[in-house]
Amino acid sequence: MLKLFKEGDCISEKKHTHHGKSSSKFIDAEEVLTKSGVKEGDIFLDAGCGDGYISLAASKFVGESGNIYAADIYEDSIESLKQEIQKQGINNISPLVADITSRIPIANNEVDLCLMANVFHGFVENNELKESISEIVRVLKPDGIFALLEFKKIENSPGPSLSVRVEPDEALNLLKKYGFEQVNLEDVGKYHYLLLLKLNK
Ligand SMILES: C[S@@+](CC[C@H](N)C(=O)[O-])C[C@H]1O[C@@H](n2cnc3c(N)ncnc32)[C@H](O)[C@@H]1O
Repeated sequence: MLKLFKEGDCISEKKHTHHGKSSSKFIDAEEVLTKSGVKEGDIFLDAGCGDGYISLAASKFVGESGNIYAADIYEDSIESLKQEIQKQGINNISPLVADITSRIPIANNEVDLCLMANVFHGFVENNELKESISEIVRVLKPDGIFALLEFKKIENSPGPSLSVRVEPDEALNLLKKYGFEQVNLEDVGKYHYLLLLKLNK
């Protein structure tokens, strides 16, 4: 049974899934991508991409020499993304139905930049960090960047209840255990922060 929260979040009793939700109404994808530092030729992973609006925008940033893996556990989201990719004639996005807590069908050390937008707090809430972050570490290149976009703890703002939101310093502490260190921390719009991390491999 699903418990529905405010826009932008949806948590099942056992496992968070946020089925079909998108943050596109209150996040500017171009701002996220510019601040993440994604560039021409990059292999970019959008982990928990939802409807894939950030992946669609990233297509222009990585260009023809780059590639985007848009991964989500929710088949309907990936199906609608596939249709949008076809409609727009895009050829550098690979949509993947995948469970980040299990295995993403990407080789070891392949990804230059992994964005996880509005998904991390759910993994924290459901004690799925070990599985999910180990998988991100596996696919990232040794000099790869992990870009964590999350909701700030602001009353009456879009997103999950304040109790499940994760502050940047808490996120950093959790991620240090997996070998990450902070590269940068920025605001994105009014409601989000973007924490950039790199591996200490
Ligand atoms: C709140 S939505 C965010 C979607 C998108 N990143 C955005 O910001 O618009 C969370 C997304 O994470 C996906 N998700 C949750 N658990 C997942 C898992 N274990 N593996 C892959 N995707 C997952 C959900 O299906 C959903 O699309």
